[in-house]
Amino acid sequence: MKKIVINGMRPLYGEIEISGMKNSALPIVYSTLLVNGKCTVDNIPFVNDVLLSLEILRHLGVKVTAKSSSCIEIDTTDISLCDPPMDLVRQMRASYYLMGAQLGRFGTAHVCYPGGDDFGIRPIDQHIKGFEALGAKVNVSGGYIDIEAKNTLSGANVFFDVVSVGATVNVMLAAVRTEGVTIIESAAREPHIVDLANFLNTCGAQISGAGTDTIKITGVKELHGCNYTIIPDMIEAGTYMVAAAVAGGKVKINNIIPKHMESISAKLLEMNVSVEEYDDYVVVSRDGDLSCCNIKTLPYPGFPTDMQPQFASALCFADGVSHIFEGVWDNRFRYVDELRCMGANIDVSGRNATIKGTRNSLTGAAVRAIDIRAGAAMIIAALGAEGRTEIAGVDVIERGYVDMVGKLAAIGADIFKIGE
Ligand code: EPU
Repeated sequence: MKKIVINGMRPLYGEIEISGMKNSALPIVYSTLLVNGKCTVDNIPFVNDVLLSLEILRHLGVKVTAKSSSCIEIDTTDISLCDPPMDLVRQMRASYYLMGAQLGRFGTAHVCYPGGDDFGIRPIDQHIKGFEALGAKVNVSGGYIDIEAKNTLSGANVFFDVVSVGATVNVMLAAVRTEGVTIIESAAREPHIVDLANFLNTCGAQISGAGTDTIKITGVKELHGCNYTIIPDMIEAGTYMVAAAVAGGKVKINNIIPKHMESISAKLLEMNVSVEEYDDYVVVSRDGDLSCCNIKTLPYPGFPTDMQPQFASALCFADGVSHIFEGVWDNRFRYVDELRCMGANIDVSGRNATIKGTRNSLTGAAVRAIDIRAGAAMIIAALGAEGRTEIAGVDVIERGYVDMVGKLAAIGADIFKIGE
Protein backbone atom coordinates (compact mmCIF):
# COMPACT_ATOMS: atom_id res chain seq x y z
CA MET A 1 0.00 0.00 0.00
CA LYS A 2 1.25 3.50 -0.87
CA LYS A 3 2.05 5.64 2.17
CA ILE A 4 3.59 8.99 2.98
CA VAL A 5 6.25 8.75 5.68
CA ILE A 6 7.27 11.78 7.75
CA ASN A 7 9.89 12.08 10.48
CA GLY A 8 8.69 15.14 12.38
CA MET A 9 10.16 18.16 14.15
CA ARG A 10 12.31 19.47 11.27
CA PRO A 11 12.02 23.25 10.65
CA LEU A 12 11.20 24.35 7.09
CA TYR A 13 13.31 26.87 5.15
CA GLY A 14 12.94 27.90 1.50
CA GLU A 15 10.35 28.69 -1.16
CA ILE A 16 7.22 26.94 -2.39
CA GLU A 17 5.44 27.63 -5.72
CA ILE A 18 1.65 27.49 -5.44
CA SER A 19 -0.19 25.72 -8.27
CA GLY A 20 -3.45 26.69 -9.95
CA MET A 21 -6.62 26.41 -7.90
CA LYS A 22 -8.23 22.96 -8.07
CA ASN A 23 -11.70 24.32 -7.35
CA SER A 24 -11.36 26.80 -10.25
CA ALA A 25 -9.87 24.31 -12.68
CA LEU A 26 -12.73 21.85 -12.15
CA PRO A 27 -15.65 24.13 -13.17
CA ILE A 28 -13.55 25.74 -15.92
CA VAL A 29 -12.69 22.36 -17.43
CA TYR A 30 -16.37 21.28 -17.43
CA SER A 31 -17.49 24.71 -18.72
CA THR A 32 -15.46 24.20 -21.91
CA LEU A 33 -18.35 21.94 -22.97
CA LEU A 34 -20.25 25.19 -23.63
CA VAL A 35 -17.57 26.45 -26.03
CA ASN A 36 -17.47 25.77 -29.77
CA GLY A 37 -13.73 25.67 -30.36
CA LYS A 38 -10.41 25.38 -28.60
CA CYS A 39 -9.43 26.78 -25.20
CA THR A 40 -5.87 26.96 -23.97
CA VAL A 41 -5.90 26.82 -20.19
CA ASP A 42 -2.70 27.55 -18.25
CA ASN A 43 -1.76 27.03 -14.58
CA ILE A 44 -3.80 23.80 -14.55
CA PRO A 45 -3.12 21.77 -11.39
CA PHE A 46 -2.70 18.17 -12.54
CA VAL A 47 -4.24 16.68 -9.40
CA ASN A 48 -6.26 13.45 -9.52
CA ASP A 49 -9.68 15.20 -9.56
CA VAL A 50 -8.67 17.32 -12.56
CA LEU A 51 -7.15 14.33 -14.40
CA LEU A 52 -10.32 12.33 -13.76
CA SER A 53 -12.47 15.20 -15.04
CA LEU A 54 -10.43 15.39 -18.25
CA GLU A 55 -10.92 11.63 -18.62
CA ILE A 56 -14.69 12.10 -18.23
CA LEU A 57 -14.65 14.83 -20.89
CA ARG A 58 -12.73 12.57 -23.31
CA HIS A 59 -15.68 10.17 -23.16
CA LEU A 60 -17.85 13.00 -24.55
CA GLY A 61 -15.50 13.49 -27.52
CA VAL A 62 -13.42 16.34 -26.06
CA LYS A 63 -9.81 16.41 -27.30
CA VAL A 64 -7.29 17.30 -24.59
CA THR A 65 -3.69 18.06 -25.62
CA ALA A 66 -0.88 18.84 -23.18
CA LYS A 67 0.99 22.04 -24.14
CA SER A 68 3.38 22.18 -21.19
CA SER A 69 3.66 20.87 -17.63
CA SER A 70 0.77 23.11 -16.54
CA CYS A 71 -0.99 24.06 -19.78
CA ILE A 72 -3.55 22.16 -21.88
CA GLU A 73 -5.61 22.74 -24.97
CA ILE A 74 -9.22 21.60 -24.73
CA ASP A 75 -11.01 21.20 -28.06
CA THR A 76 -14.78 20.84 -27.74
CA THR A 77 -15.61 21.23 -31.44
CA ASP A 78 -16.86 17.66 -31.98
CA ILE A 79 -18.62 16.62 -28.81
CA SER A 80 -21.76 14.61 -28.39
CA LEU A 81 -24.28 14.11 -25.63
CA CYS A 82 -23.47 10.81 -24.01
CA ASP A 83 -23.44 9.20 -20.64
CA PRO A 84 -19.90 9.12 -19.20
CA PRO A 85 -18.95 5.93 -17.31
CA MET A 86 -20.60 5.74 -13.89
CA ASP A 87 -17.43 4.49 -12.19
CA LEU A 88 -15.62 7.72 -13.18
CA VAL A 89 -18.45 10.12 -12.30
CA ARG A 90 -18.99 8.45 -8.91
CA GLN A 91 -15.37 9.05 -7.86
CA MET A 92 -15.77 12.78 -7.30
CA ARG A 93 -18.20 15.56 -6.48
CA ALA A 94 -17.30 18.05 -9.20
CA SER A 95 -18.54 15.68 -11.90
CA TYR A 96 -21.95 17.20 -11.14
CA TYR A 97 -20.86 20.19 -13.22
CA LEU A 98 -21.77 17.93 -16.16
CA MET A 99 -25.41 18.72 -15.31
CA GLY A 100 -25.14 22.47 -15.91
CA ALA A 101 -22.68 22.13 -18.79
CA GLN A 102 -24.70 19.52 -20.72
CA LEU A 103 -27.94 21.38 -20.07
CA GLY A 104 -26.39 24.63 -21.32
CA ARG A 105 -24.96 23.01 -24.46
CA PHE A 106 -27.60 20.43 -25.40
CA GLY A 107 -30.76 21.45 -23.51
CA THR A 108 -30.78 18.09 -21.79
CA ALA A 109 -28.55 16.17 -19.35
CA HIS A 110 -28.43 12.60 -18.06
CA VAL A 111 -25.80 12.22 -15.34
CA CYS A 112 -25.36 9.67 -12.58
CA TYR A 113 -25.37 10.92 -9.00
CA PRO A 114 -21.91 12.27 -8.05
CA GLY A 115 -19.60 10.83 -5.40
CA GLY A 116 -17.08 12.81 -3.35
CA ASP A 117 -15.95 13.26 0.23
CA ASP A 118 -18.25 12.25 3.08
CA PHE A 119 -19.03 15.41 5.06
CA GLY A 120 -22.50 14.26 6.11
CA ILE A 121 -25.55 15.08 4.01
CA ARG A 122 -24.65 16.55 0.60
CA PRO A 123 -27.97 17.39 -1.07
CA ILE A 124 -28.28 18.84 -4.59
CA ASP A 125 -31.68 20.44 -4.02
CA GLN A 126 -30.36 23.95 -4.77
CA HIS A 127 -28.91 22.83 -8.11
CA ILE A 128 -32.28 21.32 -9.02
CA LYS A 129 -34.13 24.42 -7.84
CA GLY A 130 -31.93 26.53 -10.12
CA PHE A 131 -32.44 24.30 -13.18
CA GLU A 132 -36.20 24.27 -12.59
CA ALA A 133 -36.28 28.08 -12.26
CA LEU A 134 -34.71 28.24 -15.75
CA GLY A 135 -37.52 26.03 -17.09
CA ALA A 136 -36.03 22.53 -16.94
CA LYS A 137 -37.79 19.38 -15.74
CA VAL A 138 -35.64 17.38 -13.33
CA ASN A 139 -36.15 13.75 -12.39
CA VAL A 140 -33.89 11.84 -9.98
CA SER A 141 -34.25 8.07 -10.03
CA GLY A 142 -32.17 4.91 -10.23
CA GLY A 143 -29.02 6.79 -9.26
CA TYR A 144 -29.37 9.17 -12.23
CA ILE A 145 -30.37 12.80 -12.62
CA ASP A 146 -32.36 13.49 -15.80
CA ILE A 147 -32.75 17.10 -16.83
CA GLU A 148 -34.91 17.98 -19.81
CA ALA A 149 -35.38 21.42 -21.27
CA LYS A 150 -35.60 21.21 -25.05
CA ASN A 151 -36.63 24.76 -26.10
CA THR A 152 -37.98 25.59 -22.64
CA LEU A 153 -34.92 27.18 -21.00
CA SER A 154 -35.04 30.93 -20.47
CA GLY A 155 -33.38 33.43 -18.17
CA ALA A 156 -34.97 33.71 -14.71
CA ASN A 157 -34.42 34.84 -11.14
CA VAL A 158 -32.88 32.14 -8.95
CA PHE A 159 -32.95 32.52 -5.16
CA PHE A 160 -30.80 30.01 -3.30
CA ASP A 161 -31.80 29.01 0.25
CA VAL A 162 -28.19 28.20 1.17
CA VAL A 163 -24.96 29.60 -0.21
CA SER A 164 -23.61 26.85 -2.42
CA VAL A 165 -20.50 26.93 -4.59
CA GLY A 166 -21.65 23.98 -6.69
CA ALA A 167 -25.20 25.25 -7.26
CA THR A 168 -23.91 28.72 -8.19
CA VAL A 169 -21.55 27.17 -10.74
CA ASN A 170 -24.20 24.87 -12.18
CA VAL A 171 -26.74 27.65 -12.70
CA MET A 172 -24.04 29.85 -14.28
CA LEU A 173 -23.23 27.01 -16.71
CA ALA A 174 -26.88 26.37 -17.55
CA ALA A 175 -27.67 30.08 -18.00
CA VAL A 176 -24.70 31.37 -19.94
CA ARG A 177 -26.07 30.33 -23.37
CA THR A 178 -29.74 30.56 -22.38
CA GLU A 179 -31.79 33.37 -23.92
CA GLY A 180 -32.73 36.16 -21.51
CA VAL A 181 -31.35 37.45 -18.25
CA THR A 182 -30.67 35.22 -15.24
CA ILE A 183 -30.12 36.75 -11.83
CA ILE A 184 -28.66 34.51 -9.11
CA GLU A 185 -29.37 35.78 -5.57
CA SER A 186 -27.46 34.42 -2.52
CA ALA A 187 -24.71 33.37 -4.90
CA ALA A 188 -21.43 31.99 -3.56
CA ARG A 189 -18.69 34.65 -3.59
CA GLU A 190 -15.58 32.44 -3.65
CA PRO A 191 -12.60 33.50 -5.81
CA HIS A 192 -13.19 30.40 -7.96
CA ILE A 193 -16.68 31.71 -8.87
CA VAL A 194 -15.02 34.93 -10.07
CA ASP A 195 -12.42 32.90 -11.96
CA LEU A 196 -15.11 30.87 -13.73
CA ALA A 197 -16.99 34.08 -14.67
CA ASN A 198 -13.76 35.62 -16.00
CA PHE A 199 -13.05 32.51 -18.05
CA LEU A 200 -16.56 32.43 -19.53
CA ASN A 201 -16.49 36.19 -20.24
CA THR A 202 -13.18 35.72 -22.07
CA CYS A 203 -15.09 33.19 -24.22
CA GLY A 204 -17.76 35.81 -25.00
CA ALA A 205 -20.21 35.35 -22.10
CA GLN A 206 -21.91 38.31 -20.40
CA ILE A 207 -21.64 37.75 -16.66
CA SER A 208 -21.41 40.54 -14.09
CA GLY A 209 -21.46 40.63 -10.30
CA ALA A 210 -19.35 37.50 -9.71
CA GLY A 211 -17.69 37.92 -6.31
CA THR A 212 -20.85 39.51 -4.87
CA ASP A 213 -23.99 37.68 -3.76
CA THR A 214 -25.91 38.75 -6.90
CA ILE A 215 -24.71 37.48 -10.28
CA LYS A 216 -26.31 38.68 -13.53
CA ILE A 217 -25.99 36.54 -16.65
CA THR A 218 -27.23 37.79 -20.00
CA GLY A 219 -27.49 34.76 -22.27
CA VAL A 220 -25.40 34.70 -25.47
CA LYS A 221 -25.88 32.43 -28.52
CA GLU A 222 -22.35 31.01 -28.64
CA LEU A 223 -19.06 30.93 -26.78
CA HIS A 224 -15.73 30.95 -28.60
CA GLY A 225 -12.34 29.55 -27.58
CA CYS A 226 -9.82 31.59 -25.59
CA ASN A 227 -6.50 31.57 -23.74
CA TYR A 228 -6.88 31.68 -19.97
CA THR A 229 -4.72 31.33 -16.84
CA ILE A 230 -6.23 29.87 -13.66
CA ILE A 231 -5.76 31.75 -10.37
CA PRO A 232 -3.48 30.38 -7.62
CA ASP A 233 -4.90 27.91 -5.12
CA MET A 234 -5.62 29.75 -1.85
CA ILE A 235 -6.22 26.49 0.02
CA GLU A 236 -2.91 25.00 -1.13
CA ALA A 237 -1.17 28.24 -0.09
CA GLY A 238 -2.97 28.25 3.27
CA THR A 239 -1.98 24.63 3.86
CA TYR A 240 1.73 25.44 3.44
CA MET A 241 1.37 28.55 5.62
CA VAL A 242 0.04 26.34 8.42
CA ALA A 243 2.75 23.74 7.75
CA ALA A 244 5.41 26.45 8.21
CA ALA A 245 3.68 27.67 11.38
CA VAL A 246 3.73 24.17 12.90
CA ALA A 247 7.21 23.09 11.78
CA GLY A 248 8.86 26.46 12.45
CA GLY A 249 11.55 28.01 10.24
CA LYS A 250 10.85 30.56 7.49
CA VAL A 251 9.00 29.80 4.24
CA LYS A 252 8.32 32.08 1.25
CA ILE A 253 5.11 31.06 -0.48
CA ASN A 254 5.10 32.28 -4.09
CA ASN A 255 2.35 32.86 -6.67
CA ILE A 256 -0.54 33.79 -4.39
CA ILE A 257 -3.19 36.53 -4.28
CA PRO A 258 -2.83 37.97 -0.73
CA LYS A 259 -6.43 39.27 -0.75
CA HIS A 260 -7.67 35.64 -0.95
CA MET A 261 -5.54 34.72 2.08
CA GLU A 262 -6.91 37.38 4.47
CA SER A 263 -8.95 35.16 6.81
CA ILE A 264 -6.17 32.55 6.94
CA SER A 265 -3.40 35.10 7.56
CA ALA A 266 -5.49 36.77 10.28
CA LYS A 267 -5.89 33.47 12.17
CA LEU A 268 -2.17 32.71 11.93
CA LEU A 269 -1.34 36.17 13.31
CA GLU A 270 -3.72 35.45 16.23
CA MET A 271 -1.75 32.25 16.78
CA ASN A 272 1.51 34.19 17.17
CA VAL A 273 2.81 33.36 13.69
CA SER A 274 4.58 36.03 11.62
CA VAL A 275 2.95 36.54 8.18
CA GLU A 276 4.60 39.17 5.95
CA GLU A 277 2.52 39.99 2.87
CA TYR A 278 3.93 41.19 -0.46
CA ASP A 279 2.34 41.67 -3.92
CA ASP A 280 2.22 38.00 -4.89
CA TYR A 281 3.89 36.13 -2.06
CA VAL A 282 3.88 35.77 1.73
CA VAL A 283 6.67 34.90 4.12
CA VAL A 284 5.64 32.81 7.12
CA SER A 285 7.82 32.20 10.17
CA ARG A 286 7.44 31.35 13.83
CA ASP A 287 9.83 31.98 16.68
CA GLY A 288 7.76 31.56 19.86
CA ASP A 289 5.06 29.04 20.82
CA LEU A 290 1.72 28.86 18.99
CA SER A 291 -1.24 30.50 20.78
CA CYS A 292 -4.69 28.93 20.94
CA CYS A 293 -7.62 30.60 19.11
CA ASN A 294 -11.24 30.07 18.09
CA ILE A 295 -12.40 29.42 14.51
CA LYS A 296 -15.80 29.50 12.78
CA THR A 297 -15.93 28.34 9.19
CA LEU A 298 -18.19 30.23 6.79
CA PRO A 299 -18.64 30.73 3.05
CA TYR A 300 -16.13 33.19 1.52
CA PRO A 301 -15.00 35.77 2.63
CA GLY A 302 -15.33 33.92 5.97
CA PHE A 303 -12.77 31.43 7.19
CA PRO A 304 -12.75 28.50 4.69
CA THR A 305 -14.02 25.10 5.73
CA ASP A 306 -11.32 23.63 3.50
CA MET A 307 -8.70 24.96 5.96
CA GLN A 308 -10.48 23.68 9.09
CA PRO A 309 -8.69 20.29 9.45
CA GLN A 310 -5.24 21.83 8.85
CA PHE A 311 -5.84 24.42 11.60
CA ALA A 312 -7.15 21.72 13.94
CA SER A 313 -3.78 19.95 13.59
CA ALA A 314 -1.93 23.20 14.27
CA LEU A 315 -4.06 23.96 17.34
CA CYS A 316 -3.02 20.61 18.88
CA PHE A 317 0.43 22.25 19.32
CA ALA A 318 -0.94 25.58 20.60
CA ASP A 319 -0.86 26.26 24.30
CA GLY A 320 -4.41 26.32 25.76
CA VAL A 321 -7.94 25.47 24.69
CA SER A 322 -9.22 26.28 21.17
CA HIS A 323 -12.76 25.95 19.83
CA ILE A 324 -13.74 25.25 16.23
CA PHE A 325 -17.28 25.64 14.90
CA GLU A 326 -17.88 24.07 11.48
CA GLY A 327 -20.41 26.34 9.79
CA VAL A 328 -20.55 24.78 6.32
CA TRP A 329 -20.67 20.98 6.58
CA ASP A 330 -22.72 18.75 8.91
CA ASN A 331 -19.93 16.30 9.63
CA ARG A 332 -16.40 17.44 8.91
CA PHE A 333 -14.64 16.14 12.03
CA ARG A 334 -14.31 12.47 11.04
CA TYR A 335 -10.52 12.93 10.76
CA VAL A 336 -10.28 13.71 14.50
CA ASP A 337 -9.98 9.99 15.30
CA GLU A 338 -6.79 9.92 13.23
CA LEU A 339 -5.35 12.86 15.19
CA ARG A 340 -6.33 11.10 18.42
CA CYS A 341 -4.10 8.17 17.34
CA MET A 342 -1.23 10.65 17.48
CA GLY A 343 -2.21 11.76 20.99
CA ALA A 344 -4.49 14.72 20.24
CA ASN A 345 -6.90 15.80 22.97
CA ILE A 346 -10.01 16.80 20.98
CA ASP A 347 -13.68 16.57 21.97
CA VAL A 348 -16.26 16.72 19.20
CA SER A 349 -19.92 17.48 19.69
CA GLY A 350 -21.89 17.95 16.48
CA ARG A 351 -20.39 20.86 14.60
CA ASN A 352 -18.13 21.89 17.56
CA ALA A 353 -14.65 20.70 18.39
CA THR A 354 -12.68 21.61 21.52
CA ILE A 355 -8.92 21.16 21.24
CA LYS A 356 -6.65 21.11 24.30
CA GLY A 357 -3.20 21.78 22.96
CA THR A 358 0.37 21.72 24.24
CA ARG A 359 3.68 22.21 22.50
CA ASN A 360 4.74 18.53 22.37
CA SER A 361 1.29 16.97 22.24
CA LEU A 362 1.61 14.66 19.23
CA THR A 363 3.77 11.64 18.47
CA GLY A 364 4.12 9.79 15.17
CA ALA A 365 1.63 7.00 14.40
CA ALA A 366 0.04 5.07 11.54
CA VAL A 367 -2.90 7.17 10.30
CA ARG A 368 -4.89 7.68 7.09
CA ALA A 369 -6.17 10.50 4.92
CA ILE A 370 -9.94 10.25 4.94
CA ASP A 371 -10.46 13.19 2.58
CA ILE A 372 -8.24 15.69 0.78
CA ARG A 373 -7.94 18.34 3.50
CA ALA A 374 -7.95 15.76 6.30
CA GLY A 375 -4.94 14.21 4.54
CA ALA A 376 -3.20 17.59 4.50
CA ALA A 377 -4.01 17.88 8.22
CA MET A 378 -2.28 14.54 8.89
CA ILE A 379 0.83 15.77 7.07
CA ILE A 380 0.83 18.98 9.14
CA ALA A 381 0.36 17.02 12.39
CA ALA A 382 3.22 14.71 11.40
CA LEU A 383 5.56 17.64 10.64
CA GLY A 384 5.17 18.83 14.24
CA ALA A 385 5.04 15.41 15.92
CA GLU A 386 7.90 13.61 17.57
CA GLY A 387 8.95 10.49 15.63
CA ARG A 388 7.73 8.74 12.49
CA THR A 389 4.23 9.00 11.01
CA GLU A 390 2.95 6.82 8.17
CA ILE A 391 -0.08 8.16 6.31
CA ALA A 392 -2.20 5.84 4.15
CA GLY A 393 -4.55 7.22 1.49
CA VAL A 394 -1.94 8.92 -0.67
CA ASP A 395 -4.30 8.96 -3.69
CA VAL A 396 -6.82 10.92 -1.63
CA ILE A 397 -4.27 13.66 -0.88
CA GLU A 398 -3.23 13.66 -4.54
CA ARG A 399 -6.85 14.36 -5.55
CA GLY A 400 -6.25 17.93 -4.40
CA TYR A 401 -2.54 18.72 -3.98
CA VAL A 402 0.16 18.89 -6.66
CA ASP A 403 3.28 17.02 -5.46
CA MET A 404 2.85 17.83 -1.77
CA VAL A 405 5.66 15.44 -0.83
CA GLY A 406 8.11 16.98 -3.32
CA LYS A 407 7.24 20.55 -2.36
CA LEU A 408 7.73 19.89 1.39
CA ALA A 409 10.88 17.81 0.90
CA ALA A 410 12.42 20.70 -1.08
CA ILE A 411 12.14 23.00 1.96
CA GLY A 412 13.64 20.59 4.48
CA ALA A 413 10.84 18.25 5.58
CA ASP A 414 11.90 14.63 6.11
CA ILE A 415 9.06 13.27 3.97
CA PHE A 416 8.92 10.54 1.31
CA LYS A 417 6.57 7.99 -0.25
CA ILE A 418 6.79 4.24 0.11
CA GLY A 419 4.95 1.37 -1.59
CA GLU A 420 4.74 2.85 -5.11
N1 EPU B 1 -25.99 22.43 0.07
C1 EPU B 1 -27.34 22.20 0.12
N2 EPU B 1 -28.00 21.99 -1.06
C2 EPU B 1 -27.34 22.00 -2.27
C3 EPU B 1 -25.97 22.24 -2.29
C4 EPU B 1 -25.30 22.45 -1.10
O1 EPU B 1 -27.95 22.17 1.19
O2 EPU B 1 -28.01 21.81 -3.29
C5 EPU B 1 -25.27 22.66 1.35
C6 EPU B 1 -24.22 21.59 1.60
O3 EPU B 1 -24.77 20.44 2.22
C7 EPU B 1 -23.23 22.33 2.49
C8 EPU B 1 -23.31 23.76 1.96
O4 EPU B 1 -24.51 23.86 1.23
O5 EPU B 1 -23.69 22.30 3.81
C9 EPU B 1 -22.17 24.19 1.05
O6 EPU B 1 -22.01 23.27 -0.02
P1 EPU B 1 -21.43 23.70 -1.44
O7 EPU B 1 -22.43 23.36 -2.47
O8 EPU B 1 -20.93 25.11 -1.37
O9 EPU B 1 -20.18 22.73 -1.58
P2 EPU B 1 -19.65 22.04 -2.91
O10 EPU B 1 -19.85 22.94 -4.07
O11 EPU B 1 -20.17 20.66 -3.00
C10 EPU B 1 -17.26 23.08 -2.80
C11 EPU B 1 -15.85 22.58 -2.79
C12 EPU B 1 -15.53 21.96 -1.43
C13 EPU B 1 -15.78 22.99 -0.33
C14 EPU B 1 -17.20 23.57 -0.44
C15 EPU B 1 -17.46 24.71 0.53
C16 EPU B 1 -15.44 22.00 -5.08
C17 EPU B 1 -15.24 20.94 -6.10
N3 EPU B 1 -15.67 21.60 -3.83
O12 EPU B 1 -18.10 21.95 -2.59
O13 EPU B 1 -14.13 21.69 -1.47
O14 EPU B 1 -15.63 22.39 0.94
O15 EPU B 1 -17.43 24.07 -1.79
O16 EPU B 1 -16.54 25.74 0.32
O17 EPU B 1 -15.37 23.18 -5.39
C18 EPU B 1 -12.14 20.44 -1.16
O18 EPU B 1 -11.62 21.14 -2.06
O19 EPU B 1 -11.46 19.65 -0.46
C19 EPU B 1 -13.59 20.55 -0.93
C20 EPU B 1 -14.27 19.66 -0.23
